[in-house]
Order: sequence, then structure tokens, then C-alpha cells
Amino acid sequence: MEDSELRARRARSFGERAAQYAEHRPDYPADAVRWALEPVRDREVVRVLDLAAGTGRLTEVLLGEPVSVIAVEPDAAMRAQLLGRLAGVAALAGTAEDIPLPDERVDAVLVGQAFHWFDPELALPEIARVLKPGGVLAALWNTDDDRVPWVAGLAGITGTGVRYTDRRHDRGETLPDNGYFGPFEQTTFGHTHRRTAASLTETIATHSVTLLKDERQRAATLAEVRAYLDAQPETANGEFDLPLVTIAARTRKL
Ligand SMILES: C[S@@+](CC[C@H](N)C(=O)[O-])C[C@H]1O[C@@H](n2cnc3c(N)ncnc32)[C@H](O)[C@@H]1O
Repeated sequence: MEDSELRARRARSFGERAAQYAEHRPDYPADAVRWALEPVRDREVVRVLDLAAGTGRLTEVLLGEPVSVIAVEPDAAMRAQLLGRLAGVAALAGTAEDIPLPDERVDAVLVGQAFHWFDPELALPEIARVLKPGGVLAALWNTDDDRVPWVAGLAGITGTGVRYTDRRHDRGETLPDNGYFGPFEQTTFGHTHRRTAASLTETIATHSVTLLKDERQRAATLAEVRAYLDAQPETANGEFDLPLVTIAARTRKL
């Protein structure tokens, strides 16, 4: 399979397990969301677009802030989860490359765990179009903190792309240079996800790398994950905190 075709399939894979996604993916630290919104915090009304909102894991955190939130998500099953869980949020069908909003509509566009699925050539001008002057674009990624040995061992089994030490994240290449936005700033926030061996296995089942495996391979990987977690002193007995690092990048529309 060609790289671009594989990427497109992974980007579209999440709806297959939308309910599990909503239940088993982590949320985001409120501090990371506040840092993302800081450049527009003093505006009288702060309108935020949660782009690629999925089942609303980031939307939920935004609802705890003094902002008005609108969600855009292409996958109908993911959107249905969001609408079922977060009453009163407007969730529109759309993509980063074709956002169903008028020009200069929002003060901030936030993207949780999804910027890497966008086509930046099309998405960056489109995001700039819907932002007000000086508006902020921020992307957040929850990554597994694989500086912790048992987490590194787990990542070796799953082949997941959400490792903290992933080159892409470590070298500050999270958002590309372009003519629409100023320089990107990047920082990190410590975070955790309360899990058990069973529920962390469910989380891993919602990763696109796992979703794209055929049924037999997927079952084998998940069985290996479960056996690994059952054998580690840190994860074998009841609840534990999966250590995460939330990487945050922000920039302002020029
Ligand atoms: C890993 S999920 C993240 C969902 C949510 N933001 C969160 O933090 O849980 C990635 C989401 O990006 C969406 N997506 C994929 N390609 C997209 C695109 N080109 N434009 C907008 N959303 C896209 C998928 O449908 C999926 O809901």
C-alpha cells in the first residue's frame, strides 16, 4: 500500500470504534488548553473551533473554560458520540481542508491529536481563513511517556505512533513553517491516564495502527499487550496511571 493511501486509511479509521474511543482515550490537561488560548484570553468573547473534534475529548476540556465552542469533525460515528455526550455543543460535518464556517469567525482553532492527519498545504490557509486577525492555532498531542521503561516496552509491542520520544515530536517539527502564521512555540505538560490492564488494552485497540490490522493480527497484538501488562509489577494489579506527556504547539495568524 502506498504511504499516502495508508495515511488516508488511518485518518479515517477511528469511527469504526467510536464508542470505545470516547470511553478509552485520554482527555487533555486544562493547563495545556489555557496555554493554547493565552494569546486571545483577553478578548471580550473568545470563540474556539475544536477542529477534528472526534468524540469530544478536547471539547470537554474547552467547555470548562470561559469560551464559546464549536466542533467540526468529518466522521459521522465520532460526531454522534460527541453529540450524545456533550449536550448543546454545535458539531458540524467538515474537514480541516474544507471548514464549514465563514471567514474570520473564530479567535482560536484547537486541534487534539489530529494535526498530523491534515494536508497542511490546504488546511493551513483554510484555518487562517476562519480565524480572526491575530487568532491562534494550537495543536495538542497526548504522547505515551516512553522514557518510563514499562511504557517503552509496551510501545515496542503496539508499534503505536504516540511515543513521546518520537523524533517528530522531539525535534519541534510538530507544525510546518508557512506564510499564514507566525513562528510556532512549543511546550509540554505532564499528564496521566488512569487505567487498568484491561482498559489500557482497550485504549490501544482505538489507535489507528491497531485499527488497520486484520482481525487475526489485531487480536494477537491485543493479547500480547494484555499478557505484557499482566506481567509488569506497575500494571498487573488494578488501577495505575499511564504516564503521558502532552505536547502543545501554538502560533498566531499573521
Ligand atoms: C485521533 S482522533 C482525535 C479526536 C479528538 N480531537 C481527540 O482529541 O480525541 C483524530 C480525528 O481526526 C479526524 N480527522 C481525520 N482527518 C481529518 C481531516 N482531514 N480534517 C478533520 N478531521 C480529520 C478523525 O475523523 C478523528 O476523529
